[in-house]
Amino acid sequence: MKALILAGGKGTRLKPLTNTIAKQLLPVANKPILFYVLDQIKEAGITDIGIIISPETGSYIKEAVGDGSKWNAQITYILQPEPLGLAHAVKTAQDFLGDSPFLMFLGDNLIQGGIVQFVEQFNRSSPDALILLKVVKETHLFGIAELDEKGKVYRIEEKPKHPKSNLAVIGVYIFSPAVHEAIAYIKPSWRGELEITDSIQRLIDTKKNVQSYILDGWWLDTGKKDDLLEANRVVLDDLLKCDIKGEIDTASQIVGRVEIRPGTKIGNSTIRGPVSIAENCQIRSSFIGPFTSIGAGTVIQNSSIEHSVILQDCHIINIERLADSIIGKGTEVIKEEQTFKALRLFLGDDAKVEL
Ligand code: TTP
Repeated sequence: MKALILAGGKGTRLKPLTNTIAKQLLPVANKPILFYVLDQIKEAGITDIGIIISPETGSYIKEAVGDGSKWNAQITYILQPEPLGLAHAVKTAQDFLGDSPFLMFLGDNLIQGGIVQFVEQFNRSSPDALILLKVVKETHLFGIAELDEKGKVYRIEEKPKHPKSNLAVIGVYIFSPAVHEAIAYIKPSWRGELEITDSIQRLIDTKKNVQSYILDGWWLDTGKKDDLLEANRVVLDDLLKCDIKGEIDTASQIVGRVEIRPGTKIGNSTIRGPVSIAENCQIRSSFIGPFTSIGAGTVIQNSSIEHSVILQDCHIINIERLADSIIGKGTEVIKEEQTFKALRLFLGDDAKVEL
């Protein structure tokens, strides 16, 4: 079996961060989302991996993943010139996929517990497609699957007003080569994209065997700001282990599960986990509260931060209380000691400041 990771797309909902980074490389608990995906694919024993990239952010993905040797994998990068839909991405990858069955994984999705059993179910029963489903409350936001008593999918309805189930189609699928014919048949949707749900519905309409697997654990789609913060919260809460490699002075206090990577110095501060602080940071006279990740090389002084994701090389100085924030790399958030009547800002395009 091959794997196809979709790491193209526009990332509009995460601008301005996605002006300078691929959204699949944004960190959750100080690790790029895409690396969790690659770890899980490796764990499932798949080594032949194609990655869909876009012209805008493909070079960042290539730089981060390289030749894939970190995952003992062989990586083929596939350029999708325009983000014309998930099924279009499969079409673009057709030469790479050939007549192999393949696992398709959206590069900005995270799932708990990996995909080993999912892949095993496909190998055991060899359906034409196996789709991962998750019970959701907000059925009107998803493609909702209807199943027979054996778990076979007989209909998928996009964003239904009157849903017949609460099982949403989420970002992980396994397809046999039959999907290529289905994709060749479908037409772009109202939003101009070739939809993967339409391709699955076409498989069903042509009497193909589409099976389902219901995910018990969490599923996180990191496409928007609050989703990314939520993913950071859940992953820190669930996966973080206490691991202190930096220097902590005697005036500081570490409470709960905290990761502090080498080269980081903590002085006169309280760190209340779950918190991950990457390499070579300096934290002085500050409070770092639960569910916060701080990227490498960041300096935090006289400040209090919680429930936030701070990327690398930032300076946060004299900020009384920063919460629910995502801050891009190299950003300075500084309050002058004297009170000025004016705010002095130097912000990039699409920035958002809430005061
Ligand atoms: P989406 O989050 O649906 O699309 P997007 O990245 O364009 O985001 P936005 O709506 O904020 O502009 O995509 C899910 C995943 O699939 C994501 O990792 C990007 C990837 N993708 C492709 O690789 N090619 C595509 O044509 C599309 C639509 C998405």
